[in-house]
Amino acid sequence: MADQYAQAGEGKRPTEIPVIRWEEPPEGPVLVLLDQTRLPSEEVELVCTDASALVEAIRSLAVRGAPLLGIAGAYGVALAAARGFDVDEAATALAGARPTAVNLAVGVGRARSAYAAALARGDARRQAAAAALAAARQLHREDAEASARMAGHGLALLDELLPGGGHRVLTHCNSGSLVSGGEGTAFAVALAAHRAGRLRRLWVDETRPLLQGSRLTAYEAARSGMAYTLLTDNAAGSLFAAGEVDAVLIGADRIAADGSVANKVGSYPLAVLARYHHVPFIVVAPVTTVDPQTADGASIEVEQRPGFEVTEVTAPQVQPAGAGGGIPVAPLGTQAYNPAFDVTPPELVTAIVTEEGVVSPVTAEALARLCAGSREA
Ligand code: MRU
Repeated sequence: MADQYAQAGEGKRPTEIPVIRWEEPPEGPVLVLLDQTRLPSEEVELVCTDASALVEAIRSLAVRGAPLLGIAGAYGVALAAARGFDVDEAATALAGARPTAVNLAVGVGRARSAYAAALARGDARRQAAAAALAAARQLHREDAEASARMAGHGLALLDELLPGGGHRVLTHCNSGSLVSGGEGTAFAVALAAHRAGRLRRLWVDETRPLLQGSRLTAYEAARSGMAYTLLTDNAAGSLFAAGEVDAVLIGADRIAADGSVANKVGSYPLAVLARYHHVPFIVVAPVTTVDPQTADGASIEVEQRPGFEVTEVTAPQVQPAGAGGGIPVAPLGTQAYNPAFDVTPPELVTAIVTEEGVVSPVTAEALARLCAGSREA
């Protein structure tokens, strides 16, 4: 497996394992995940036979990233239904597994509503379970389509903002095919630029403490044959100062009604840097990430993660929540501040790219129009 990664660095593709798939072996339906805690050194599958295994996979970040959390949540409800568990109980546990990415609750809600609607029209439980699965599959397909459309809109925007071509793009966390039914959100835009011959370099923030940038985005960039360079998060300032960044492209976990953007911790400092250096700061996210029920940035619940993720280095880097057991990099008993996300105010966001189009400038009114349009379609 280690060899496969070495090959990937040379532009060859390692084994293809879908990030998520539904299977129906004779023993009963299962949800099979690519365990993202083991990347990049190993491509290992994780088989969930019930919703509680999936809840654990979500908490440990074996499955992660806003759009994929939505898809996983929907399949999780379908799994509970197909295996005859209490669907409401499973849905509540799944929706509450992580608080910030709104897509999780949206995905769970879609499958749960399909199940409830089927029961309400008199279907048997087996048919209702099939309806939940159909809703999950539909969401999965829709996300793939949304991803392709965001890539198109995002590339057009990059070309408009940076007419010289040869884009040097900085990204944070991981937003490619590992988080999506398709090729992702922000990473999909960079990939479209790469395919069009217009990406000069992808700067990849390592994304402490769980290293989604170095473990996952670098893995995806290597697989795609992109020119990419990894940097520590705290090296971004000097990179901007050297004039090496033309645009920042990030995803989002929740966009409040006022346009505030919650994304992986470290996104907000990049927005501040980008503004100071007159560099566009672009957020790419499907409409399902926009949450009209959350009024503003202060109302977004930011997940706090265990301190050991900061005070220890673990191998593989991500351990099940609460486990620890890594190599200490701080004195024993050190307290850590470890929010998983931060919130960027709308005035620092140049544009929000969705599958329905681009919002720029980012205002509550423009976002509301976009969401209304997408609901009517
Ligand atoms: O904690 P994670 O790895 O789930 O965080 C993921 C991110 O912050 C991504 O940037 C976000 O989900 C957008 S990706 C489409």
